[in-house]
Order: sequence, then C-alpha cells, then structure tokens
Amino acid sequence: MAKRISIINFKGGVGKTTFAFQFAAGLVRYHDARVLLIDMDHQSSLSIVCLTAPEWSTIVKAKLTVNEVFRPFIGQTSSFPDKTIIKQRAIKRISYSTNYDKLDLVPASLQLDDIEIDLTASHHGNAIHSEWDKRTLICRWLEEANVDKEYDYIIFDCPPATKIVSQNAIAASHGYIIPVVPEAVMERGAPHLAAMIKDGIDARLKALASLGTKRKTHVPDTELVGVVITRIRTHGPAQSGYTDDHTRHLASLQRQWGTMLIEPYIPEGTGISQALDDGVPVYERSGTQNIGGRGLNKIYQNLTDALKVRVDAL
Ligand SMILES: Nc1ncnc2c1ncn2[C@@H]1O[C@H](COP(=O)(O)OP(=O)(O)O)[C@@H](O)[C@H]1O
Ligand SMILES: [Mg+2]
Repeated sequence: MAKRISIINFKGGVGKTTFAFQFAAGLVRYHDARVLLIDMDHQSSLSIVCLTAPEWSTIVKAKLTVNEVFRPFIGQTSSFPDKTIIKQRAIKRISYSTNYDKLDLVPASLQLDDIEIDLTASHHGNAIHSEWDKRTLICRWLEEANVDKEYDYIIFDCPPATKIVSQNAIAASHGYIIPVVPEAVMERGAPHLAAMIKDGIDARLKALASLGTKRKTHVPDTELVGVVITRIRTHGPAQSGYTDDHTRHLASLQRQWGTMLIEPYIPEGTGISQALDDGVPVYERSGTQNIGGRGLNKIYQNLTDALKVRVDAL
C-alpha cells in the first residue's frame, strides 16, 4: 500500500508546492520510489510546473484532472474516473533524463474552486453517509481505480484552506507535513492547523465512520510527520547566519515543535524559485552557483531522506 502524505498549511506562499515538487522528485531520484503527485489546489501551480502551461491546458480541455473525482458527487457526471486522469512521467521539461520516469501526476484545474463550493452545498440521502461520502471521494478513487498499489508514495499538494477538497486529501493520508516560514503568524497558525486536523477533521471522520457507512473505504488515521522550515532568510547579522527576525521566530518554532521540526531547513534562494518556474528539480542544478554553490540540492536531498524515514514509519 502506498504511503500517502498531505502537504498542507492554510497560509499561501509558504512554499507548499515548491516543497511537494522537490520532495516527490527526491524520492524518485534518490530512492527509486514510484511517486504520484496529486494537485489539490485549483490554482494548479504544481500542474503547470510539471507539465508546462500549454500541455496543462490541453489536459484540462480533455477533462483529465482531479476534478473528475469530485464531479459525480455534485451531479455533473455519472461515472467515477479511472486511471486515465493520471499523467505519467509528469516532469515534462527534463526530457534528457530518465531519472524521473517514476513520477506521475494528477493535475488540477481552476474549476476545482467552483467544485469546492458545490461540494459544500451538495447532500445525498442520509446526512451522515453524505458527509462521509463527500470527504472520502479521493480515498475511494485510489482504491476503486486501483491506483494505490501502483505507488510507494502519494503526495497531495493542498490549497491554503481546510475545506472539503483538502479534507479529502487528509482523509486519504497517513501523514501530513506542514511547511512554515519562520514568521510570527506561523507560531500560532501551525499549532492551530495541527489541532484542527486532529480534533476537527480526523476525529470527525472517525465519528462519521463509526456511525455506519455504506462503503468499506479504508480511511487511515492522519499523523503529523513533521514541520518543515522553508524560505528562511540567511546572510543576516545574527550568529545563526539567519536574519534577526527569522532567528527569533525559528527559536520559538524549535521550542514549540521540538523533534517535530525537521532538519535541514530550506533557505530562501532565487535558484529555488527559478528551478520551480523552469519545472526542474534542484537535484539537476547541482552545477549552478545559486543551487549547487549554496548546497541547496543537498539540503533538499537530506530533507527528503529525513522525512522518508518518518513517513516509512507511519
Ligand atoms: N525556498 C525558497 N526560496 C525562494 N523562493 C521560494 C522558496 N520556496 C518557494 N518560493 C517561491 O515562493 C512562491 C510561493 O511558493 P509556493 O511553493 O507556490 O507556495 P504555496 O504553495 O505555499 O502557495 C513561488 O514563487 C516560489 O517559487
Ligand atoms: Mg501551492
């Protein structure tokens, strides 16, 4: 069975998509893992990063996106999708390399935002079954379309929200990773998110499950894998090498999360945003000054290794 992981934070711009992409690529590149990325964000940045905008548009027109998993519930189609919504060998821009042949993607489209609204409003029959069914659509698809057993890891890139679409990712996941930028807002936000996932979303699913469901979909418990520091600013005067501001907030996050704060930390770096824009894993840029020169490819590789150990233990 695949280990399924949600990358989540209700703040945007913290590097969720960047991290999801590099983590997935690292698992494939260095661990020969079979990885499926699922874009759950209607903004579709992961899909565009992997596929390029023109190919993404073609796929959206052909209705080969994650949206299809949700459409039957809101009455927009009658049939549940099969595996054809998976785009194989999803990193399109590194045709020179076979290192990432085992990385596949289920893309998203902008319409997923409308689908989210319709999902909230839609109910079918028994209220409890209905609440359960709408949150376990992704779980069901992974099982019914025989997707799960084809991968070692399934990674969900979530939107900055904890509504029904994200709840589907959490319901399907064994674990979740919270990327945080060391800022004041995160000191309150990340614990709130973790509590919400545990007591709000996961506990609620369990309660719904025990009240009787029609289908025997497997819904795993969802554990925190760890908190990942992203976009930490270096070159400051502080001894840590980080800016004063980030040093202070990092110390506070360390106190708050202890061993759940996973090292190494990902610095802010133009090479990282550039690689993402280009749809290229940082591991392929070891020869450049702003990636290799700063050891950023190694940082991502080591972080991938550290997280893999935790994910495998779930
Ligand atoms: N470590 C980093 N250094 C520099 N820029 C980054 C880094 N991580 C992310 N970014 C940039 O920040 C922006 C937001 O990142 P993204 O991963 O899309 O965040 P989210 O998915 O949380 O909204 C993107 O333009 C991305 O290239
Ligand atoms: Mg994102």
